[in-house]
Amino acid sequence: MSKRKLKEDSFTNGECISKVQRILRERFCHQSQNGKLFGTELQYKQLLELLKRTAINGESNSVLIIGPRGSGKTLLTCHVLKKLMEVKEVRENILQVHLNGLLQTNDKIALKEITRQLNLENVVGDKVFGSFAENLTFLLEALKRGDRAHSCPVLFILDEFDLFVHHKNQTLLYNLFDVSQSAQTPIAVVGLTCRLDILELMEKRVKSRFSHRQIYLMNSFDFKKYLNICKEQLSLPAVFPEKSFIQKWNKNVQSLLEDQKVQDVLQNQFHYSKDLRSLFMLLMLASSSITVSHPYINASDLLEAGKHCRMDSKANIVHGLSVLELCLIIAMKHLNDTYGGEPFNFQMVYNEYQRFVQRKAHTVYSFEKPVVMKAYEHLLHLELIKPVEGPSMCTQREYLLMNLLLDNNQIMDALQVYPNCPTDVKQWATSSVN
Ligand SMILES: Nc1ncnc2c1ncn2[C@@H]1O[C@H](COP(=O)(O)OP(=O)(O)OP(=O)(O)O)[C@@H](O)[C@H]1O
Ligand SMILES: [Mg+2]
Repeated sequence: MSKRKLKEDSFTNGECISKVQRILRERFCHQSQNGKLFGTELQYKQLLELLKRTAINGESNSVLIIGPRGSGKTLLTCHVLKKLMEVKEVRENILQVHLNGLLQTNDKIALKEITRQLNLENVVGDKVFGSFAENLTFLLEALKRGDRAHSCPVLFILDEFDLFVHHKNQTLLYNLFDVSQSAQTPIAVVGLTCRLDILELMEKRVKSRFSHRQIYLMNSFDFKKYLNICKEQLSLPAVFPEKSFIQKWNKNVQSLLEDQKVQDVLQNQFHYSKDLRSLFMLLMLASSSITVSHPYINASDLLEAGKHCRMDSKANIVHGLSVLELCLIIAMKHLNDTYGGEPFNFQMVYNEYQRFVQRKAHTVYSFEKPVVMKAYEHLLHLELIKPVEGPSMCTQREYLLMNLLLDNNQIMDALQVYPNCPTDVKQWATSSVN
């Protein structure tokens, strides 16, 4: 009897865990419109009102949503569009065009994409247009249905908006803003960008046609709010099928977030970057260790995830170097210490290395110069050293001036964890005599 019960328990547990995993993964990895939007109520309202005015009253608008990477610009727009589409008369009437500066790299491609998204390829056919403006006007005219009140509003969502300013003459932006200012087809232009100086990037004639409406997303929450977001994102919803599990899970989350060590990790992350994308990455890493035998997240999972997130990728590369390459880096470190960070060349590094080898002739193997050169070039490939920009490009390989892209702390940390590092090499790194 008890055996059967145990079996049933572990079965439901297994199911429970996979459901928990699915819920958390969806929250942290998917840009789902069903997810929660934190701390942007005001901006949400502002954008929704604005787009409603275009969609329902046929009023043209333009707006920029400005905020650092991962601050939720795309998510906010998705949420607002979803809400907007819930209104029946809007859903039946409005058209959306989504452009992205990374994909539509010039105005010709952008125009083709606009035509495609508006389903006007057949209408355009083989027509040849004199200018971009003519073409765009034709497209918008084609959408018109009688008078202005009945013409079809179009929402233009331009993600990575700052990339569009590099298009020739900023033609697309000029024309979109121009239409949004004049009494033609009602359109709303929404630009999403992480450049705070976006207004300076626009040409004067483009800028003057822009409405200067801006919505800022600045991750302006304090640590308390940040902790609350963690709690909300980790907690299970009341609709979770296994009621008894919800309580246990949520209680664990509560006590986890009260743990001082966990708070330290989160505080660290908070001070490093407040954006929720990096926070969710951290929580995702922590929650990925959940299994049937380890069903609750604990403090060490979060500490481990914190370490992972802050791992230095350069130190990782040093970890995989050969001892010779490591020696060259130490030689460069000494050169940097001696000459106060002035650039060096291969010959200087080689001399430094030779001096070390001669001092330790009985323990360290001396490599030939071409071999050392090869190792040096490998470091260049790995971008641990970088040529100084300028006219030195035409000099001989040995005399090309280079900078080391690692600082002393990174080198010393990497040496600590380097497997089987010869003692002499370690001592050489820490010694001030070179
Ligand atoms: N205010 C927020 N509420 C909830 N989740 C958020 C919020 N801000 C960011 N996120 C999370 O961060 C992820 C990234 O957000 P999003 O893609 O909207 O950022 P973005 O500002 O568009 O960044 P980018 O400039 O790189 O395009 C989202 O999928 C979401 O999980
Ligand atoms: Mg985005």
